[in-house]
Amino acid sequence: QHVLVIGGGQNAEHEVSLNTAAAITGALRSRGFEVSGISIGRDGLWSHGQKPLGTSVSASLAAALPLLEQADVVFPAVHGPLGEDGTLAALCALIRKPVVGSGLRAGAVGMDKEVTKLVAEAIGIRVAPGRLVRATEIGDIEFKTEVVVKPVSAGSSYGVTLVRDASGLDEALRTASRYDDRILVEHVVHGREIDVAVLREADGSRWAAPPLEIHADGLFDTATKYNGTARFTVPADLGSTDRAAIAQAALAMFDALGCSGVARMDFFLTEDGPVLNEVNTMPGMTAESQVPRMFAAAGVSYVELVARLVDAATV
Ligand code: DAL
Ligand code: MG
Repeated sequence: QHVLVIGGGQNAEHEVSLNTAAAITGALRSRGFEVSGISIGRDGLWSHGQKPLGTSVSASLAAALPLLEQADVVFPAVHGPLGEDGTLAALCALIRKPVVGSGLRAGAVGMDKEVTKLVAEAIGIRVAPGRLVRATEIGDIEFKTEVVVKPVSAGSSYGVTLVRDASGLDEALRTASRYDDRILVEHVVHGREIDVAVLREADGSRWAAPPLEIHADGLFDTATKYNGTARFTVPADLGSTDRAAIAQAALAMFDALGCSGVARMDFFLTEDGPVLNEVNTMPGMTAESQVPRMFAAAGVSYVELVARLVDAATV
């Protein structure tokens, strides 16, 4: 089978996506798949390996389409907006090409932290109280408590600031507004950081891997995510009630959004149970990332996980 892996992308997580794509490519090759690679530049230009496919975005995309057409399966390993948000899945849908991971709807909803929270609340999953702020409202907003300020659509914690007192709010809003003109201001949730990954298999069944706990020295922010200082415990040391509640919430979100492939749901475990932080429909997938670590704890190796994702690709 010939798999076309797409990496890079036009957002802050460009580099992270290249790493995910490289790791997936290596795993698929070791499993005997024929793999070719396309990357999308920060400027939106598509390249085949190192070779630019055109000098304008539309010309390079037009040259990339036959390569997508020739592949048996497309694996879009692009985190963040204009990738994980369903755009690449939609492109594959338009040309009727089997694609790994969630489709347009789940990608778009999962990429939008505000809409994700509305869905979660509608099905009885708790989320952090907060409000949506527009970039145009900066200067008019007041908060008395400790808050987290984040762009509605971004990943890897880019643009996220923990604001301890009101004096830091406007600066935090401006930082977030570099990534999205919709900004979430949320109360800080105090709890253990627990992630759960859910995988949809080729037969349509889906299951949750053992949860993982993140131990970060301070905030699990962009730096901590990629500088190797965060430690994970897998499986997380949880009582049976908490374990069941978190797995149930993760599966319920996966179903509500209509996810495919693998998705990672990130929670805070509080004294009153799990609070959903966010959903990632194309989570980080180097061998050291949380998702592969969780499946390894379930006896599914990285290579096996990536191969199952390709097997479960749908049109
Ligand atoms: N957005 C990053 C890649 C993650 O969720 O792992
Ligand atoms: Mg995320």
